[in-house]
Amino acid sequence: MLVKSASFVKSSSKLAECPANSVWEFAFIGRSNVGKSSLINMLTGRKSLAKTSNTPGKTQLINHFLINENWLLVDLPGYGFAKVAKKVRNKFDHMIHNYLAKRESLACTFVLLDIRHEPQHKDLAFMELLGEKQIPFCMVFTKADKLSDKKLSTNIENYKNKMLKNWAYLPEIFVTSSAKKTGRAEILSYVGQVIDDIGEPKFTNQ
Ligand code: GTP
Ligand code: MG
Repeated sequence: MLVKSASFVKSSSKLAECPANSVWEFAFIGRSNVGKSSLINMLTGRKSLAKTSNTPGKTQLINHFLINENWLLVDLPGYGFAKVAKKVRNKFDHMIHNYLAKRESLACTFVLLDIRHEPQHKDLAFMELLGEKQIPFCMVFTKADKLSDKKLSTNIENYKNKMLKNWAYLPEIFVTSSAKKTGRAEILSYVGQVIDDIGEPKFTNQ
């Protein structure tokens, strides 16, 4: 898929404020600082469409971007961010869970995982939750450029093996680097394929 246009639509602090359900949308989620906003900029080919930062917790709202006038890309705040007050964290977690569970136009969620690290309890638990709620998701390993090819393969294998302890089969997996544009064609082509497979949206809540 070619990205011909990409524009910011809206930032929402809760599900009720999100744009009306009109086209399919794809959400990007993961721990704070995992590289969600960077990946969105890499995919859309727009340097600063989504705001990136060295400071974790930059994205605090549900941000919608319209791509090619026919699908929405969603930048979500990081979950389980340790450095904010518990009350704020709970508010974030509630907002994210409510969005994921109830957003009718959500076609697929991309769960971002920093491939430099061992599988983290919070990420595994988050994917378990998506599984329980039957929310379709893919795994996206980020920051692949920060590892040697050998270490990258080892970490991916370790992650898959860890997942297979709890899952009968693995979801779609993408290996990415926003710095090197790795994984861009694969993710965009997957989005196109999902849109083709699920067909024209007919939403009950507009
Ligand atoms: P929050 O909005 O705080 O939840 O973070 P985020 O997940 O949106 O992360 P963001 O894209 O802001 O990136 C965090 C930091 O990681 C920034 O300093 C990025 O430049 C860096 N980064 C993100 N992706 C990559 C990558 O693929 N390679 C490298 N080398 N650095 C990356
Ligand atoms: Mg962000």
